[in-house]
Amino acid sequence: MNQDIPAFNAPDDRPDLPDDLDEPEATRRTADPGETSTANRGWWDRNADEYQSDHGAFLGDDRFVWGPEGLDEADAALLGPAAALTGQRVLEIGCGAAQCARWLAGHGARPVALDLSYRQLQHARRIGEGACDGDEADAGAPGGFPLVQADAGALPFADGSFDLACSAYGGVPFVADSARVMREVARVLRPGGRWVFSVTHPIRWAFPDEPGPEGLTAGASYFDRTPYVEQDDDGRAVYVEHHRTLGDRVREIAAAGLRLTDLVEPEWPSWNDQEWGGWSPLRGRLFPGTAIFVCVKD
Ligand SMILES: C[S@@+](CC[C@H](N)C(=O)[O-])C[C@H]1O[C@@H](n2cnc3c(N)ncnc32)[C@H](O)[C@@H]1O
Repeated sequence: MNQDIPAFNAPDDRPDLPDDLDEPEATRRTADPGETSTANRGWWDRNADEYQSDHGAFLGDDRFVWGPEGLDEADAALLGPAAALTGQRVLEIGCGAAQCARWLAGHGARPVALDLSYRQLQHARRIGEGACDGDEADAGAPGGFPLVQADAGALPFADGSFDLACSAYGGVPFVADSARVMREVARVLRPGGRWVFSVTHPIRWAFPDEPGPEGLTAGASYFDRTPYVEQDDDGRAVYVEHHRTLGDRVREIAAAGLRLTDLVEPEWPSWNDQEWGGWSPLRGRLFPGTAIFVCVKD
């Protein structure tokens, strides 16, 4: 299990990481696709080490968890029965350290793991190298599956390349134009393919992002789609999240030519006593924190 994050050996292997950022200001303002992508790439590069250190144990090296509630694909089978994954071409979007792709590979699927952040993909390499026994067939990266650095809004794959696509909180909440992501996924899926993605449950945008009692009182409009932006002293965005209502998500899915077959709102399980940012047992018992959309391309 990945508890300790070792330092990377080669300093040149790191992306450029400005280390002189003051505490950013949190605000709500517009942020276009370019500003959003630049900000989030930098944020995830700077924060990947801490993210993997904080959450790596919960995520596991080769587990497929859909969100902080801990819903596991091994139990939920939202991509279909695990036994049917063998040989399936699966695209994981916003893979982070590719824990989900590694679980898929372990079940015989042929994943491709994509992320915007080079540093997150370095963590995927690190874990994959640990899993390698030296004889493993090399499909382009340690762990036996390709890692691709790209934006979810411009997928570098041919039409109909994949049988399945999935994303556990990867990409979709972090792009300005999520309708475009839906279109891109529809394009790279074969007819009959399935797309399953999880995001922060939209209702959470009406509440303070706090795990305690202060996070139980609605203080903002659910209908306000203004992005959440953290910006530096010069007003440059350094982190952006975008909000869509449930209805917006359904319309974006339908407009891309996909059919929504399920909307899963995982309940907080009694075994899970961990807080993850604003997700906590207290709030999780009262209202949903994650929405998982299951879609099919007819
Ligand atoms: C909350 S993490 C989720 C990662 C992984 N699925 C997990 O559960 O740990 C979000 C991931 O989305 C990636 N991401 C953010 N914006 C993206 C974009 N526009 N395209 C692709 N990936 C993006 C980030 O780099 C980060 O690795």
